Amino acid sequence: MRLRNTAGWLAWIAVLCALSAALAYQMLAAEDRSLFLPGETTSGHHQIELACDACHVDAFGGGEVMQDACVDCHGDELERADDSHPRSKFTDPRNADRLARLDARWCVTCHVEHQPERTREMAVTVPADVCFHCHEDIAEDRPSHEGMGFETCASAGCHNFHDNRALYEDFLLAHAGDETPTRRLNPHRTPEKTAEGHAPALLPADADAGGVRADPAILDAWASTAHAGAGVNCTDCHGQGARWTDEPELEACSDCHEGETEGFLKGKHGMRLDAGLSPMTPARARLTMKSEAAGRSLDCASCHGAHEFDTRRAAVDGCLGCHDDQHSRAFKGSPHHELWVAEQAGRAPENSGVTCATCHMPRQVHRRGGEALTRVQHNQNANLRPNEKMIRPVCMSCHTLAFSIDALADPELIRNNFSAEPARHVRSIEMAVAREEDATRPTQGNDPRQGEQQR
Ligand code: HEC
Ligand code: HEC
Ligand code: HEC
Ligand code: HEC
Ligand code: HEC
Ligand code: HEC
Ligand code: HEC
Ligand code: HEC
Ligand code: HEC
Ligand code: HEC
Repeated sequence: MRLRNTAGWLAWIAVLCALSAALAYQMLAAEDRSLFLPGETTSGHHQIELACDACHVDAFGGGEVMQDACVDCHGDELERADDSHPRSKFTDPRNADRLARLDARWCVTCHVEHQPERTREMAVTVPADVCFHCHEDIAEDRPSHEGMGFETCASAGCHNFHDNRALYEDFLLAHAGDETPTRRLNPHRTPEKTAEGHAPALLPADADAGGVRADPAILDAWASTAHAGAGVNCTDCHGQGARWTDEPELEACSDCHEGETEGFLKGKHGMRLDAGLSPMTPARARLTMKSEAAGRSLDCASCHGAHEFDTRRAAVDGCLGCHDDQHSRAFKGSPHHELWVAEQAGRAPENSGVTCATCHMPRQVHRRGGEALTRVQHNQNANLRPNEKMIRPVCMSCHTLAFSIDALADPELIRNNFSAEPARHVRSIEMAVAREEDATRPTQGNDPRQGEQQR
C-alpha cells in the first residue's frame, strides 16, 4: 500500500515536471514572448523585457542563477559605487539577526520584476521605510535622528542604499567649509586627439570610395573632420569593394572607439543592441520624445551624424532632436545654457559652458599605460540615478557640496533644469559637523560611542 502510494506520487511529480518544463520551454521559445509576461516590466528593463533569458537564464533557474544574471550586468557598477550594503556584509554571521528580518543577500528581495503595483523608482519593490528593518535603533546612537521618519532616510537627499560616495560622513566633513570656486570650469578639457601613429591628414582627392559614391557634399564634410585629419578613409567605415555598405554597423566604429562603444551599450541608448535586439527607437520609449523622431534608430550616428562629427552639436541640439520631456525642454534658457551660449560666442572661457553632455555624458580621465586620456562617458545612465552620483564628477567642479546636495534633492528644480536657487535645504553637513564637535568637546560623562564614525 505504502509502496504503491510512493510510486503514485513519483509518477505525479514526473508529470508535473514535464508539464512545467514544456511551459517553460514554450515561454522561452515562443514567437511572441510578451504573451507570457506576468506584468509590465520596470522602466530600467522595459527595453529588453522580451529577452526573457537575459534574466531567466534557464527555464528552471531561480535564486542563484537569477542573482548571477543581475550581478553580471550590475556587479561592476555597484562595486564602483562602493556599495554600502554589499552581499558580504550580510554573509557576516554577526548580522544574522538582521537577515532574519529581510534577506538582503538577494537582489530580488528588493527588486522583483513585472509587478508594477508595488514598483517604486529605480525598480525598488519594497516599501520606502525598508531601512527600519535593520536600523530601527539609529536614534540611540544618533540623537539627531530622533523622530525622523524611516521613509525619509533614502528619499530626502541624505542616504542611499547602495551609493553613498557623495554622502559619507567623512566626505561631508571634508567639504563642510568649501566656498564656491571662483573659476568655474569643467576641469576636463575637450578630449585630446590621439592621432599619432595614423597616416597623415587626407584631402578630398584621397577618398577611397570609388567614383559613384564620391558625392561632393560628403567629401567636404569628411575632409573637414578629425577622421580625415587622422587618415581615416571612407573604406575604414564602409568596408571595401563588394563589402561596401551605405550603413556602417556599430563594429565599424567600435574597432577604433572601444571605450565609447562599451559605455553606449550599457545605457538606455544602446542596451537593446547589447541584448542582441534591434536598435532602440524613440517610438519604443516611455519618456516623452519628439514625434518626428519616432522612427530614428539609436546608434553612433544619432548624435554624431554620418560625416560631420561635430561634438558641440551632439552635446545639446543632437539630444533635443529626440528628447522632449519637461526637463529637456527647460534646458534652453537656463543659466547653464546661457553659459554655453556665451562660450560658443567666445564671450566666456573654454569649458565654462554646461551642456546636456556635461551632466549626462561627463568627460573622464582614463589611464592607458602611463598616459592620461580624457574620454567621454557614453553611458548616460551611469550617473543618472540616484542623482547624487552626479555630485562628485560633475557639480562639484563649479558648486559647493552643500549647494549640489540641495539642488539635486529638489524635484521642481530638476523639472525646470536648474533655472533657480534650490528651494529647500538638506541639513546633512550641519549634522555631521555638530556630531564631530560633540565628540571632540571634552565633557564629563561623555558617551564613548559618540566618537565612533561609521566611515
Ligand atoms: C530584467 C530581468 C527580467 C527579464 C528580462 C524578464 N524577467 Fe521575468 N522575472 C524577473 C524577476 C526578477 C522575477 C521575480 C523573481 C522572484 O521573485 O524570485 C521574474 C518573475 C517572472 C515570473 C514569475 C511570476 C511572478 O510574478 O513571480 C514569470 C512567469 C516571468 N518572470 C516571465 C518572464 C517572461 C515570459 C519574460 C520575457 C517575455 C521575462 N519574465 C523577462 C526578471 C526578468
Ligand atoms: C535591501 C534592499 C535591496 C537589495 C537587497 C538590493 N537593492 Fe538595489 N536598490 C535598493 C534601493 C532602496 C535602491 C534605490 C537607490 C538607493 O537607495 O541606493 C536601489 C537601487 C539600485 C540600482 C540603481 C543604481 C544605483 O547605483 O543605486 C541598481 C542598479 C540596483 N539597486 C541593483 C541591485 C542589485 C544588482 C542587487 C543585488 C546584488 C541589489 N540592487 C540589491 C535596495 C536594494
Ligand atoms: C542584460 C543585462 C541586465 C540584466 C541581466 C539585469 N539588468 Fe538591471 N539594468 C540593465 C540596464 C542596461 C539598465 C538600464 C540602465 C541603468 O539604469 O543603468 C538596468 C536597470 C536596472 C535598475 C534601475 C536603475 C535605475 O536607474 O532606474 C535596477 C534596480 C536593476 N537594473 C536591477 C537589476 C536586478 C535586480 C537584476 C536581476 C534580477 C537585473 N537588474 C538584471 C541591465 C541588466
Ligand atoms: C538587511 C539589513 C539592512 C537594511 C534593510 C538596511 N541596512 Fe543600512 N546597514 C546595514 C548594516 C549591517 C550596516 C553596517 C553598519 C552597521 O552595522 O550599522 C549598514 C550600514 C549603513 C550605513 C553606513 C554606511 C557604511 O558603509 O558604513 C548607511 C548610511 C546605511 N546603512 C543606510 C541605510 C539605508 C538608507 C537603508 C534603507 C534604504 C538601509 N541602510 C537599509 C544593514 C541594513
Ligand atoms: C567615421 C566613419 C565614416 C567615414 C570615414 C565615412 N563614412 Fe560615409 N557613412 C558613415 C555612416 C555611419 C553612415 C550612415 C549614416 C546613417 O545611418 O544615418 C554613412 C553613410 C554614407 C553614405 C550613404 C548615405 C548618404 O549620406 O548618402 C554614403 C554614400 C557615404 N557614407 C559615403 C562616404 C564617403 C564617400 C566617404 C569618404 C569620403 C565616407 N562615407 C566616409 C560613416 C563614415
Ligand atoms: C580606423 C579607425 C576609426 C574608425 C573606423 C572610426 N574612427 Fe572615429 N576617430 C578616429 C580617430 C583617429 C579620431 C581622431 C581623434 C583621436 O585621435 O582620438 C576619431 C575621432 C572621432 C570623433 C571625435 C571628433 C572630434 O571632432 O573630436 C568622433 C565623434 C568619432 N570619431 C566617431 C566615430 C564614429 C561614430 C565611427 C563609426 C561610424 C568612427 N568614429 C569610426 C578613428 C576612427
Ligand atoms: C547620445 C548622443 C551620443 C551617442 C549615441 C554617441 N555619442 Fe559620441 N559623443 C557625444 C557627445 C555629446 C560627445 C562630446 C562631449 C564633450 O565633448 O563633452 C561625444 C564624443 C565622442 C568622441 C570624442 C571624445 C572621446 O571620447 O574620444 C568619440 C570618439 C565618440 N563620441 C564616439 C562615439 C561612438 C563610437 C559612438 C557609438 C558607439 C558614439 N560616440 C555615440 C554624444 C554621443
Ligand atoms: C535618436 C534619438 C535620441 C537622441 C539623439 C538622444 N537620445 Fe537620449 N534617449 C533616447 C531614447 C529612445 C531613450 C530611452 C527612453 C526609454 O527607454 O524610455 C533615451 C534615454 C536617455 C536617458 C535615460 C533616461 C532614463 O530615464 O533612464 C538620458 C539621460 C538621455 N537619453 C540623455 C540624452 C542626451 C544627454 C543626449 C544628447 C547627448 C541624448 N539623450 C540623445 C533617444 C535619444
Ligand atoms: C546640470 C545638470 C543637467 C543638465 C545640464 C541636464 N540634465 Fe538631464 N538630468 C539631470 C538630473 C539631475 C536628472 C534627474 C535624475 C533623477 O533624479 O531621476 C536628469 C534627468 C534627465 C532625463 C531623465 C528624465 C526622466 O524623467 O527620467 C533625461 C532624458 C535628461 N535628463 C535629458 C537631458 C537633456 C536632453 C538635457 C539637455 C537638453 C539635459 N538633460 C540637461 C541633470 C542635468
Ligand atoms: C562648468 C561649471 C558648472 C557645472 C559643471 C555645473 N554648474 Fe550649475 N551653474 C554654474 C554657473 C556658473 C551658474 C550661474 C549661476 C550662478 O552664478 O550661480 C550655475 C547655476 C546653477 C543653478 C541656478 C542657481 C541660481 O541661482 O539660479 C543651479 C540650481 C545649478 N547651477 C545646479 C547645478 C547642479 C545640480 C550641477 C551638477 C548636476 C551643476 N549645477 C553643474 C556652473 C556649473
